[in-house]
Parts: sequence; structure tokens; C-alpha cells
Amino acid sequence: MTSPSPQSDAAFAVTHTRLKQVGQEHVLTFWKDLGEAQRAALLGQIESLDLGSLPGLVRRYVTHTPPAMLPSRIDPAPSYGAGGGVGGGLGSRSTRNWDVANYRRIGEDLLRAGKVAAFTVAGGQGSRLGYEGPKGCFPGGAVTGKPLFQMFGEGLVAAQRRYGRPVPWYIMTSPLNHEATVAFFQEHAWFGLDEANVSFFPQGVMPSFDMASGRILLSAKDQLATNPDGHGGAIRALKGSGSLADMRRRGVEHVSYFQVDNPLVRVVDPTFLGLHAAARDSSGEMSSKMIPKAYPDEKLGVFCSVDGRTQIIEYSDLPRALAEEKGPEGSLRFIGGSIAVHAISLDFLERLGTDPSFELPFHRAEKKVPHVQTPSGITAQPQANNGVKLEKFIFDALPLCGRSLVYETDRAEEFAPIKNATGVDSVESSREIQTERAARWLEGAGVRVPRRADGKADCVLEISPLTALFPEDLKGREIPREVGAGASVAL
Ligand code: UTP
Repeated sequence: MTSPSPQSDAAFAVTHTRLKQVGQEHVLTFWKDLGEAQRAALLGQIESLDLGSLPGLVRRYVTHTPPAMLPSRIDPAPSYGAGGGVGGGLGSRSTRNWDVANYRRIGEDLLRAGKVAAFTVAGGQGSRLGYEGPKGCFPGGAVTGKPLFQMFGEGLVAAQRRYGRPVPWYIMTSPLNHEATVAFFQEHAWFGLDEANVSFFPQGVMPSFDMASGRILLSAKDQLATNPDGHGGAIRALKGSGSLADMRRRGVEHVSYFQVDNPLVRVVDPTFLGLHAAARDSSGEMSSKMIPKAYPDEKLGVFCSVDGRTQIIEYSDLPRALAEEKGPEGSLRFIGGSIAVHAISLDFLERLGTDPSFELPFHRAEKKVPHVQTPSGITAQPQANNGVKLEKFIFDALPLCGRSLVYETDRAEEFAPIKNATGVDSVESSREIQTERAARWLEGAGVRVPRRADGKADCVLEISPLTALFPEDLKGREIPREVGAGASVAL
């Protein structure tokens, strides 16, 4: 017990009244047990909440599961095909030809003019991977075990060399991993990038709620349980951190958005950027990369078209009948899966950050949230989901665009996600995909790569973006003529 100070008693009274009005006064249960510093920290956390919005949020998302609001008519979104074909009607993937080289040139011109920034969302908790530390520090390189951040950093160094201008890199962290992320870059000398062109900012958090009562959970007697507010929290954090203003100052016009968990991502893809900025059926606001889903249950959001607007429907929300429906050629009708790569204009980001009608909705996720119980003060380690966390998703901005373009890319070239420790989308599967891509590139350059009876490469391979951003970059490089069976080779 601390001796009460009149100042903190007054603060208690005011805050208690405000919390009581919104049914959350229990968070002050242990006030009497707290020292001045703890009290100040707790009050600070409470102050940062938009208390007035809590009852509505709790009613809408926490104590009820909002029904998935599916429109009555959903069609597959049309898309541009990687090989130069474009969907002519809803859902058709390639009928009309488009000039790949032309759009690639347009994208390259944007990069040469310094009009493109890279943006990585790295604020997630990475709970499925179970890695201590920011996910971007995870050793993702198939052979070298290079950290994911390094793989992206090398992509940006390579882009700078090729296009002659730096690509400023913005990294969204969370309050939980911000310091560790910045320290990691310092330790690694910003992976060869100029420190002035790399910036970090933490995203916001939301309180975690008790699922049954809607009350905010306490992670300690002096602390609310919180979670990062989703990758959609980027909209607020980009603006609040001054990053949008910084981009404006630098002359950036478009942002290349990607997640922290895909070591094969093209950190800036000139063809995609060119299409996004200049194709006649793109409003140049927000475009997306897609890959054909491999099977109906694959856990990828699906590109749909509703009233002429592109949107992503989460795999869990897409009715089974639609997920399994076949098109005329026998492939899945709703085949477009999102790999969470977007090109977004700075104008659009600014509008999203200021226009209240562009506010993104929350999504509800049920989680096991350890917490201090009130009034007992006993810590509970739940075995079943007890809590709700609320997150925003960046892709909810898609239907707010005038015309949003979808570009189909080759899964084997650009998608090797590391989400889990084992199994699907794991370190292991990513290593295999990285190896297969490198094997194809090397074979294309005349290198003999050992293959097993099942056709898979009998070796582990990794090609740094510093060696080749595209397969054709291998020509003229010093590369071995042959890879030995069972060898591990990093180039
Ligand atoms: P995921 O949906 O994979 O979530 O994030 P996660 O938190 O990283 O991992 P799990 O679900 O706990 O295992 C996709 C991308 O969005 C970022 C992540 O860092 C990752 O790059 N993200 C997610 C944020 O930046 N902030 C968030 O609040 C959530």
C-alpha cells in the first residue's frame, strides 16, 4: 500500500467516474496497491483510449459475434495475368493482351524518379511461429539463415543500385517490439542502407476484452492487456508518426506495401507499380497482387467484386459453396488469393487518414489472454479462448478505391511465407520454395542442378537480391556450372 497523495486521489476520482460511465471502472480495482509511478502509467494507458467508443465497440464486436456481412451478389474480381493477359469479364483471368514491357518501363521510371517508398508491416505478434523477438529478425534465408529484415534490406540496396535512387523504407513496429527492432537494425548497420532512408514507427494498440463480460482485461494490476491494432492500424500510424509528411517531402507518390514474413517478396516490383500507376482500369489508389489458390480451403483472402468494387473476403467468411465452385475451365471460380502485397498511392493514404467516412472497420479475433482477475488479484492462464482482440485490416481499404487493380503473379516466384514453426507455411516449406525458385533461375542460366526422382531439387539454394533481382540478372555473374547433390549453396 502506498500513502495516498491528494493529486493522485483527485485523478482517481475523475478517471473512476469516466470509466464507470462506460462500464470499465474495474481496471482501477488495485489502485490502492500501486505506487505513484504505476498509477501514472495506468492512467496514461487509460487516457490513450477513446473511452466514449468503448460501449459501442463492446456491444458490436465483443459480447456478440457480428454476422459476416456478405453481399447478396459476389463475383470473382478480374485480374491482370502475369504473362500479359487480362481478365476480360468478371472472374476471367486472361483474355486481353497487355504490354508487360511498357508497364515495367513505367514502374522503372517511377523508381528512377525516386517516387516509390517501401513499407513493411512488422507489428504483428507472430504467435504462430513462436519466435522470441520481432518476426523480422527471424532467420529466414534457406541457406544463410539471414534475418527476414536483411533479405528485404538487400532487395532495397539492389533496387537502389539498379535505379540510381534510394527507396525510402518505412517499417511499422508495435509498442511491444519497437525498441528491439530498431536495436536490431543498429546492430546490423541498417543492412547496407543509409540510416537516413530507414524509419520506424510503432502502431497503436487496442485493449483486449473479456469475451463474456466485455470488460477490459488486466495483464497486471497496473496494466491493461492490449494488442496491436492490426495491419490496418497502419493508416493511423503512418499519419500520426509523420511518415506520410516525410514521404511527401521526399517526393514519394506510391508505396510498395508488404508483410514481414515472405522472404521471396519483390520489395519493389516495377511491372506491378507501373500497372498500378498507369493502367486504364486502375484509379492508381490501391492495387494488389494475387496468386491462384491451390485448393478451396487454402487460407488466403479471396479477391471478389461487389457492385463493381474490388474487395478481399477472408477465407473464413467465403461461403463453402463459393469457395468450391468451379468455373467453365474446371478451375476454381473464386481463384484469386491475396498474398498481402499492395501498391498504394500517397494521396490515397492521406485521404484514408483524414476522411472519417474512410474509417476501416474492426475485426474480432478470439484468443487465450492471460490476465489478473478482479477482485481476487489471481492470475488466470486460460486453456480456452477467453478474450477478444480487435484489429483493423489494411485490405478493407480496397473497396474505398475508385478502381482497384488486381495483378496475378507466379506463386513459385514470389510467395514463401513463414507463419508457422512446422508444416504449412513454415520455415521448412519456405526453404523448399526458396530452393525451387533458385534452382529454376540457375537452370535457366545453364547451371546443372541435381534433382530427385520426384523432381524436387536435391540441394538447398538461396540467391540474394544483391546477386539477382530477376532471373536474367544471373547472366554474366560468376556462378557455378553445377550444384552437387545434397549441397547447400548461397549466391
Ligand atoms: P499475421 O496475420 O500473420 O499476424 O500478420 P502475426 O501477428 O504476425 O502472426 P500470428 O497470427 O500472431 O501468428 C500479417 C502481417 O501483418 C503484420 C505482421 O507483422 C505481418 O507482417 N501485422 C499484423 C502488423 O504489423 N500489426 C498487427 O497488429 C498485426
